[in-house]
Amino acid sequence: MELISDKKAMREKVMELRGQGRMVGFVPTMGYLHEGHLSLIRAARQENDVVVVSIFVNPLQFGPREDLTDYPRDLERDCRLVEAEGVDYVFHPDEGEMYPRRFLTRVRVEEITEGLCGAFRPGHFEGVTTVVAKLFHIIPAQRAYFGQKDAQQARVISKMVEDLDFDVEIRVCPTVREPDGLAMSSRNIYLSPAERGKACLLYHALEAGRRLIEGGERDAGAVEAAMREVLRKEPEIEVEYLGVYDGRDLRPLRELRGEVLLAVAARVGRARLIDNIPLLLED
Ligand code: PAJ
Repeated sequence: MELISDKKAMREKVMELRGQGRMVGFVPTMGYLHEGHLSLIRAARQENDVVVVSIFVNPLQFGPREDLTDYPRDLERDCRLVEAEGVDYVFHPDEGEMYPRRFLTRVRVEEITEGLCGAFRPGHFEGVTTVVAKLFHIIPAQRAYFGQKDAQQARVISKMVEDLDFDVEIRVCPTVREPDGLAMSSRNIYLSPAERGKACLLYHALEAGRRLIEGGERDAGAVEAAMREVLRKEPEIEVEYLGVYDGRDLRPLRELRGEVLLAVAARVGRARLIDNIPLLLED
């Protein structure tokens, strides 16, 4: 495995591999890797000849009162983990390499960035699309892998790729969970043992919504009420949003049909946690 921090060297390497007719799969991450990230890497490993993982904690996607400086980092451990998965290249630029002085450009996807996490993290998705657009230029892979865990992020990136004619196939992989249902996240380390015990209730709330829908309920208000009921008695869980959304435009739904997304975001102690369940209703 080769560690590359220079963007020109990285791009030349991928161009050379593509020139040899190789399929390149790319997994963008902010590091502090867990099984969720590794599942994306395994999918990329299965479907491509060469796998590139980027590790870069992107300052542009953190708000001024968010956890940029506290965000967990452990490059050595990450490298050991990805090497064991058969990753070929790790791209790990420093901040100056990605954002030289007087970096003035932003990539912004409209509308679908306004609701859900966008409403609570102003500028966040602009930071994500800007760094991912840069990464797609530095690592011109044929396929890129994202997690369903960050459902809005995956939608926003797919839209950017469609709108700006990026020549890359976006693959979205299922959410990997702890045994009690908590979605894996680098931010779970912020949870105290007591908070960690309660954090799985976010998933239990989503599951309560799913069960109602599978039983035939099609009224979003009824589904949302059932989800809220699961979290109602837990003052440690401070809900930011919770509801049923259109899986494509991410707007809140009243009546459920087609692609729907049950989604929740909450603060649990210092941690901000998000989770979702996508459903396809055939009737
Ligand atoms: P990060 O939070 O490190 O996540 C990297 C990728 O792993 C994302 O596509 C995310 O959806 C996926 N992922 C995280 N937890 C997962 C889980 N439990 N199951 C499945 N996939 C999971 O998302 C980012 O970094 C950044 O915003 C990035 C896209 C790298 C841009 O900076």
